[in-house]
Amino acid sequence: MDLAGKRVLITGGAVRVGAALAEGFARSGAKISIHYRRSAEEAERLLCTLPGEEHDCIAADLSDPEEAQTLIARTGHCIDILVNNASYYVRDAADAAVCRQVNVFSPVELMTQFSAQEGLENGVILNFLDGAALRAVPDGDFYTASRVEFARMTVEFARRFAPKIRVNGIAPGPVLPPVWLPESRMANISQKLPLKHPVDLTELVETALLLCRAESMTGVLLPVDCGLHLT
Ligand SMILES: NC(=O)c1ccc[n+]([C@@H]2O[C@H](COP(=O)([O-])OP(=O)(O)OC[C@H]3O[C@@H](n4cnc5c(N)ncnc54)[C@H](OP(=O)(O)O)[C@@H]3O)[C@@H](O)[C@H]2O)c1
Repeated sequence: MDLAGKRVLITGGAVRVGAALAEGFARSGAKISIHYRRSAEEAERLLCTLPGEEHDCIAADLSDPEEAQTLIARTGHCIDILVNNASYYVRDAADAAVCRQVNVFSPVELMTQFSAQEGLENGVILNFLDGAALRAVPDGDFYTASRVEFARMTVEFARRFAPKIRVNGIAPGPVLPPVWLPESRMANISQKLPLKHPVDLTELVETALLLCRAESMTGVLLPVDCGLHLT
C-alpha cells in the first residue's frame, strides 16, 4: 500500500517515538494528525517541521473514556491509518486503572471508532506494544499486563476487522529511556539484551512503515526489541 496521501492519526505523536513516526509517515507522503495530551507546544513545533502539507494536531486525554470515544470524529477526517502509540507506564498500583484505560480500553475504543468510519477502505491499524509483553512468561506488573492484554486484542481485532482493515502490533525493546530514568541506566538495560544494544529508532520507524504498507500482513505481533522477548 502506498502511504502517499493517506491520513494517519498517531496517538502520543508529539514527542519521542511518536514524533519520529510522524516524521517517517510524513516523509512517505502521508498527512499526519498528531494527537497529544500535554505536549501541545511540541506538537505545534513538529507541525512546522514535517515535510508535506495538511498536517494538523488534536488534543485528548486518553484516560478519559469520553475523550477517546470522540477523538476520531473530532479530527474531521476519514482516518486511513490509526497508530496507537500513546502509552502510560505505571509504577504505582494506585494508577493501575488509568494504565489499563490508556493502554487498553482507549486504544480499543479508537479501533472501534476507526472501523465505523463511513467510506473507510483498506484501513490499517498499528498498535505499539512492548517486547516484554511477548516473553513466554511476561512480568506481572500493571504496565506489562496491559501490554499483554492489548497484544491479545490486536490479534482479536485483526480477525474481526478482516478483510476491510489490517491490524498489526509492533513490540519495541528499549529505544529511548523513559523520561524518569537516568540516561546512564539505559546502557545497563541494553547490556542485558541478547543483542547488547538499544533498539535503533530509525529501524523501529521503518518497521512500523513496513507493517502499514504490507498488504499481506495482519494479526502480526512483531518484536523490534534486540531480543528482549527471548529473555
Ligand atoms: N521508549 C521505549 O524504549 C519503549 C520500549 C518498549 C515499548 N515502547 C512503546 O512504544 C511506544 C512509544 O514509546 P515512547 O517511549 O515514545 O512512549 P511514552 O513517551 O511513554 O508515551 C508517549 C505519549 O503517550 C502520551 N500519553 C500518556 N498518557 C496519556 C493520556 N492519558 N492521554 C493521552 N496521551 C497520553 C503522552 O503524550 P503527551 O506528551 O502529549 O502527554 C506521551 O508523550 C509506547 O507505546 C511504548 O509503550 C517504548
